[in-house]
Amino acid sequence: MERSNLIALMYVLLISQNIIYGAEVEMKVRPGDNITLYCDRSVTHGFFVWIRNCSHENQPSLVIDYKKWDLEIFQRYSSVHNRSSNSHDLHITNISVSDLGLYYCAEIEIKVNKDEKGIISSSEVYYYGNRTTHLSK
Ligand SMILES: *[C@@H]1O[C@H](CO)[C@@H](O)[C@H](O)[C@H]1NC(C)=O
Ligand SMILES: *[C@@H]1O[C@H](CO)[C@@H](O)[C@H](O)[C@H]1NC(C)=O
Ligand SMILES: *[C@@H]1O[C@H](CO)[C@@H](O)[C@H](O)[C@H]1NC(C)=O
Ligand SMILES: *[C@@H]1O[C@H](CO)[C@@H](O)[C@H](O)[C@H]1NC(C)=O
Ligand SMILES: *[C@@H]1O[C@H](CO)[C@@H](O)[C@H](O)[C@H]1NC(C)=O
Repeated sequence: MERSNLIALMYVLLISQNIIYGAEVEMKVRPGDNITLYCDRSVTHGFFVWIRNCSHENQPSLVIDYKKWDLEIFQRYSSVHNRSSNSHDLHITNISVSDLGLYYCAEIEIKVNKDEKGIISSSEVYYYGNRTTHLSK
């Protein structure tokens, strides 16, 4: 085996190990790239969102909610359904510097509770995957 092939193979093995152990996956991007981020959580009973944490710590997380995708800020996002894992991957076109950050997916379940006085309230419970993807230059 050629040395460059061997290095490529080792790199692939390292990446798959990252996925198995749920560590952060590093992804290098350039402006204009189109990319797909993989979600390791399958849909069971809730609905899906993706969350982006920016590198600037003080900025609030961006929740990429499929139900709001007609909004202009979400124009470059689309959902890719992976049938074999029954998960929703995130496709982003025309990457720019403002897209850099940490991405992870979550399933949200709406729980309806009734307390002892009979008052009904609802809450959102988040279930995260193990995988986070760090987009960097
Ligand atoms: C990204 O996708 C758009 C079409 O959706 C295409 O025009 C463009 O060339 C693609 N860019 C790259 C870097 O592949
Ligand atoms: C995350 O990792 C834990 C411990 O390895 C495992 O039990 C759980 O099923 C994993 N969750 C997903 C969504 O893969
Ligand atoms: C993303 O940011 C939120 C709010 O600052 C924080 O609670 C959460 O732990 C961060 N998630 C990751 C994976 O760093
Ligand atoms: C779909 O999910 C399977 C199992 O998790 C994974 O091996 C495969 O790479 C995914 N395919 C795509 C196109 O995301
Ligand atoms: C990609 O985004 C840049 C700004 O970041 C914009 O100038 C350009 O027109 C966009 N290209 C496409 C094909 O949407």
